[in-house]
Amino acid sequence: MQAPDDDIQASGPRWFRQLRRAVLWAPWVVATLAVVYGVGRFGADEPVAYRGIAEHFKYGSTGGERESGFPYWIWQALPKICPEHLPGDGYASLGMIYEPGKDLPVGVSKRFHLGIDRVFLNCAVCHASTVRDAPGAAPRLVLGMPAHRFDIRAFESFFFNCASSAKFRTEFIVPQIEALNGGLSWLDRNLVYPVAIGLMRERLLMLKERFAFVFDQPQWGPGRVDTFNSAKVLFNFPMHQLPPKELLGASDFPSIWLQGPRMLRDDGKRMELHWDGNNTHTEERNKSAAFGTGTTPPTIELGAIARVEDWLLNLQPPAWPYAIDAELAQRGFALYERYCAQCHGRDGRDFSGPRVGHVTPIGEVATDRARLDSYTYELAVNQATLYAGYPHRFRHFRKTFGYANMPLDGIWLRAPYLHNGSVPTLRDLLEPAARRPRSFYRGNDVYDPRRVGFVADRAADGDRRFFLFDTSLPGNGNEGHEGAAYGTELPGADKDALVEYLKTF
Ligand code: HEC
Ligand code: HEC
Repeated sequence: MQAPDDDIQASGPRWFRQLRRAVLWAPWVVATLAVVYGVGRFGADEPVAYRGIAEHFKYGSTGGERESGFPYWIWQALPKICPEHLPGDGYASLGMIYEPGKDLPVGVSKRFHLGIDRVFLNCAVCHASTVRDAPGAAPRLVLGMPAHRFDIRAFESFFFNCASSAKFRTEFIVPQIEALNGGLSWLDRNLVYPVAIGLMRERLLMLKERFAFVFDQPQWGPGRVDTFNSAKVLFNFPMHQLPPKELLGASDFPSIWLQGPRMLRDDGKRMELHWDGNNTHTEERNKSAAFGTGTTPPTIELGAIARVEDWLLNLQPPAWPYAIDAELAQRGFALYERYCAQCHGRDGRDFSGPRVGHVTPIGEVATDRARLDSYTYELAVNQATLYAGYPHRFRHFRKTFGYANMPLDGIWLRAPYLHNGSVPTLRDLLEPAARRPRSFYRGNDVYDPRRVGFVADRAADGDRRFFLFDTSLPGNGNEGHEGAAYGTELPGADKDALVEYLKTF
């Protein structure tokens, strides 16, 4: 390329030649500075990193902001732009948890990418929650327990509805951001945010259409999500053409403690886990879950996931914090050994047992089959193409025909029970279905140590409203796991003893 001053004739006075040279060079200098600024600002890709593993789990990035991240300031402004699409005040009203002094809830990570701070979900949004001893008491945050208060469908609806509203526009959002953060630069106000708002609206409206099937289902309520129908959307399955019986997969967030002892079962093979036992490898369950945090094969941060993965191998559930009647628990131990241990392991830490990590056929356990039917052979085949070309290509998804016999570590914090969360307490699970509550409230974190589960008979607590779960709706059935083999025919005193023993898990 020719340098600009090659053209300059060495004529005229010296000051004139210098001025002319400066004028000819100026655009190059400006362009270079703009490129340096642009590369520095828009090329940067820097997550907020945490040294402590608990902080990393709560707020660290798994890479999802790159593809799915919301601009931080739009995230902060939207509850003020569309308050009518939230059940109450801010994201906390969706059951997201704010620790004191934090600007983002547990389960939301931040990264500087494409010139702005962007935020998205991480594992903790579905796998961490709180428990309280009484309505007025301080909540205790427990990592690895099911996020039983988080209503992810209401979260999705909030964004979809806000994006569809006339207020999802620069002229509403930018002034709101300025009111919150005290001012944007000229470039942000006139270029960066208008573009970001437009892109985010387009993307949300596209997702709203693709996830339309979700809104034909009964409300999920807090603590539940339809994992595998969402995965079908990822593969562009024609959702409206699928048989209705596979379109209802809402099930509870599980606990994710002690993944290490979940690797192997008595026969030396891997435990079949996920609610229906569709995958034998915790490494794949983690990477599959990472799709839920917005990552894709090229954007996933394997190092960041590996940190979580390693920590989950030995992460312990918290011990039961209330009194235990040792004598009653001892009686319960004998009953547990006789009826339950073969399927659920010796106790809350020793997961040995001939049927642990195997799948019990649906005809035998006879719980609601919607979640099982939502996972299909076609989906398993498609999942086997994920990460094709990478060493960690998925190889372990398969269709099963029942639900998994899983370890019961930390079971006191895993209420409501069964894969679809249809039974509020452990004591209720030991009753035959006809005597289990037909409806109850989900989303309270106040604990009921007597029946062992969260308080489920209150509609509200101050300004927090709970979700009425109706077991007569499709996918919500509370039947099954009953009969002599499952302890539901024992005398009441024996059931109390069993529950007392399960408190030690
Ligand atoms: C959107 C909510 C959500 C997010 C985010 C999420 N998970 Fe999960 N996770 C689930 C649900 C729901 C299941 C149960 C799926 C099923 O079997 O139907 C699950 C299952 C699991 C399991 C298997 C548990 C078992 O014993 O069967 C592991 C391990 C796991 N998740 C780890 C992770 C990790 C690691 C991350 C972050 C990379 C993560 N999850 C992010 C909702 C989530
Ligand atoms: C034949 C194997 C088998 C036996 C025996 C068995 N269970 Fe289960 N259990 C299962 C299966 C399978 C599930 C999952 C069913 C579902 O979610 O639909 C389950 C679910 C559970 C759950 C709910 C777990 C959660 O995270 O929601 C608890 C609690 C439980 N069983 C306790 C017991 C107790 C106590 C006994 C003995 C009285 C027992 N089970 C006997 C197979 C068994």
